[in-house]
Amino acid sequence: MSSDHTRFAPLRAAAVVADADDPLAGCRARFALPDNVIYLDGNSLGAMHRDVPDALADGLGRQWSRDLIGSWNSNGWWRLPAVLGDRIGTLIGAASGQVICGDSTSVQAFQALLGAARLRPDRRLLVIDRGFPTDQYLADSVARLLGLDVIRIEPDGLTDELARRAAVVSFSLVDYRSGELFDAAAITNRVHRGGALMLWDLSHAAGALPVELDAIEADLAIGCTYKYLNGGPGAPAYLYVARRLIGQLDLPLTGWHGHQQPFGLTESYEPAASIERGRIGTPPILSMLALQAGLRGFDEASISQLRRKSLALTARVIEFADEWLTDFGVEVATPRQPERRGSQIALRSPHAYPISQALIARGVIGDFREPDLLRLGFAPLYLSHSDVVQAMTELWQVLDSQDYLDERFQHRLAVT
Ligand SMILES: Cc1ncc(COP(=O)(O)O)c(C=O)c1O
Repeated sequence: MSSDHTRFAPLRAAAVVADADDPLAGCRARFALPDNVIYLDGNSLGAMHRDVPDALADGLGRQWSRDLIGSWNSNGWWRLPAVLGDRIGTLIGAASGQVICGDSTSVQAFQALLGAARLRPDRRLLVIDRGFPTDQYLADSVARLLGLDVIRIEPDGLTDELARRAAVVSFSLVDYRSGELFDAAAITNRVHRGGALMLWDLSHAAGALPVELDAIEADLAIGCTYKYLNGGPGAPAYLYVARRLIGQLDLPLTGWHGHQQPFGLTESYEPAASIERGRIGTPPILSMLALQAGLRGFDEASISQLRRKSLALTARVIEFADEWLTDFGVEVATPRQPERRGSQIALRSPHAYPISQALIARGVIGDFREPDLLRLGFAPLYLSHSDVVQAMTELWQVLDSQDYLDERFQHRLAVT
């Protein structure tokens, strides 16, 4: 038995005890994950729920091939964007009728930013975070279209003065690199005190931690469904609009599905009175069927159970890193306070890229983000405490053996 085996034996034993006590332990069986893989990238692409193949087979073999176009009515295709929106709403604290599913997060970011900015025509400023690039690029584009200025800040740097000048403040609830979680209620409150509108990007939060959009009186939110919501590659995104704003919101992408009477086929656009105005064009039904099946993963797990487990998993990683990884120059870049972290841990190292590749070669799948972050996501639906200890043991071995210096781990792939 190797010395590593002995060194980490107490950690493994503690993880076995925690797993035996885990109310969510049974959820993992609902997901198709290879036996020899520890999947720490559910913050980027969630695992596949085992109901997805049957849902797609039904969508193809019965709905499309047999029921054909009648499926828009008989198989509920027309209603899917709203049905899925409501289901997602239950996971982000939104009462029904305020979330619509469809299109990509990038499209929804454009829709929401521009629509919100039109609600404050006397203000000339968009305030955004230095978060995910697509949100920044689209804010710049919206600003060019409307003749606005854009200011980039850290979410904690929002001042009352900026909130008084901004039309819209748009932040990610969880930072995609560091995994830092921001105080949604406090920030929304500050934004409202200044008279601006608040738009949240929930991509790295939904499905992993409590989000209470209605309770904090958020104005708009967007998010993707292929991360913790397990919708599958390219799964459609969603848009939340607070009920009080729906009737006033003048969205820029006025596709026919958002029309009050799509089959009236009139020449001019009249938006639907409901959240259906957030629809654009024909939705990707097959992707929506996969998402619908993926969301069944949440039928047996409450968000508070998921949050409790996620924090326990990430605490285990932080403790391990502090005790075993600092000698290798690896440091935790994620906030240590539970209320300030999402469901991922970012570890900083100048060798983060080859380390991520060496780990993948050992079956521990995380990813790399520029310039020096090894990003490890902990989806509480399908990861165990033992997985975490095993992954950390592998990481220690990669560092101790300097495996990551091997030539084959230096080559940058297109997707990192
Ligand atoms: C915060 C955030 N917004 C948006 C996106 C992606 O947008 P899209 O689904 O359009 O590629 C990501 C992707 O990781 C993200 O992290």
